[in-house]
Amino acid sequence: MRNILITGGAGFIGSHVVRLFVNNYPDYNIINLDLLTYAGNLENLKDIDDKPNYTFVKADICDYDAVVDTFSRYKIDGIIHLAAESHVDRSIKDPFSFARTNVMGTLNLLQAAKSYWEGNFENKLFYHVSTDEVYGSLGNEGFFSETTAYDPHSPYSASKASSDHFVRAFYDTYGLPIVISNCSNNYGSYQFPEKLIPLFINNICNNKPLPVYGKGQNVRDWLYVEDHAKAIDVIFHKGKLGDTYNIGGFNEWKNIDLIKTLIKVVDRFLGREEGASEKLITYVKDRAGHDFRYAIDASKLKNELGWEPSLQFEEGIEKTVKWYLENKDWVKNVTSGEYQKYYKEMYE
Ligand code: NAD
Ligand code: TYD
Repeated sequence: MRNILITGGAGFIGSHVVRLFVNNYPDYNIINLDLLTYAGNLENLKDIDDKPNYTFVKADICDYDAVVDTFSRYKIDGIIHLAAESHVDRSIKDPFSFARTNVMGTLNLLQAAKSYWEGNFENKLFYHVSTDEVYGSLGNEGFFSETTAYDPHSPYSASKASSDHFVRAFYDTYGLPIVISNCSNNYGSYQFPEKLIPLFINNICNNKPLPVYGKGQNVRDWLYVEDHAKAIDVIFHKGKLGDTYNIGGFNEWKNIDLIKTLIKVVDRFLGREEGASEKLITYVKDRAGHDFRYAIDASKLKNELGWEPSLQFEEGIEKTVKWYLENKDWVKNVTSGEYQKYYKEMYE
């Protein structure tokens, strides 16, 4: 029996990781620690929350006593750390909350793990989930590899870069067994509609403007979230201690091309004429410090651990659009209240 703490398990990627571990490893106890911020939602896990190997703990990763208490109460011997503030636009408005959660929260967890496991790191693991945004921005050519120098530009990526450095420092200084992965942009079910794909699906459905930053020429590498969860599973079980693995979709899209593809799929599902919703495209002021291009070289993960994405983008987008259209109540619940205020301040 292994007792695994997953932080941020009520969020977008975390909920997919929790579901995969609870279903695939009935002999593991999965403890999901989450503060349930605006981005966390227990609805994301309602299909597995009565499983005997699943426990939810509502706590803040910045609360040292609560974290230590969770470690000792559930005899934690592995952690997959996903809890974070995750949206670049919010980090531009409020960088402090990103430093607090992403930097101090991660440090808190590292210190708690080190102190609870002190003297016996055998069969223990601190797995830190991070982003490719720590590497900065690419021009038209090249890819991020695991040895690319860090060059973060947004408060979000700066806070994630800082947390990655702390995780490595605990390996180098104290011998804490760690592994890190840096992943490209994810998409799929349960993503909060502040990120590009779910925001635009929702706006197309509601005939609202689609705010494209700048000229829509920025490039992102998109990965289906369930493929990310599978990569995390592989790295958790087979990753080399102290190592970093890049995870990517080998799937680069210019924003405007992705948006037009998305419009086509949503229009088809809604029975609208093909491309009818292109009229909703509205070019708006560019994001400050907007990174031009992200692209991941995930060959290390493929060559060493045998992982590669399983889903083609066209199939992933179809599944994602279908999910949002079939789960209008979920969207309605998460976009009521606070979201309206955020949306007004951000876009109106
Ligand atoms: P998300 O915003 O959807 O979810 C974050 C979760 O963390 C929420 O459930 C929230 O309640 C929880 N949380 C926030 N602050 C907390 C705190 N102080 N204590 C406890 N829980 C707290 O994020 P996501 O998109 O699922 O990203 C998860 C992780 O993956 C993050 O670390 C992010 O940096 C990383 N990542 C995300 C992407 C992406 O495309 N979304 C890509 C690469 C890496
Ligand atoms: P986002 O989903 O916020 O992810 P990230 O900034 O972490 O890559 O944005 C993806 C791309 O879409 C990014 O280049 C910014 C752009 N974008 C828009 O053009 N309009 C929007 O309203 C949003 C949220 C993003």
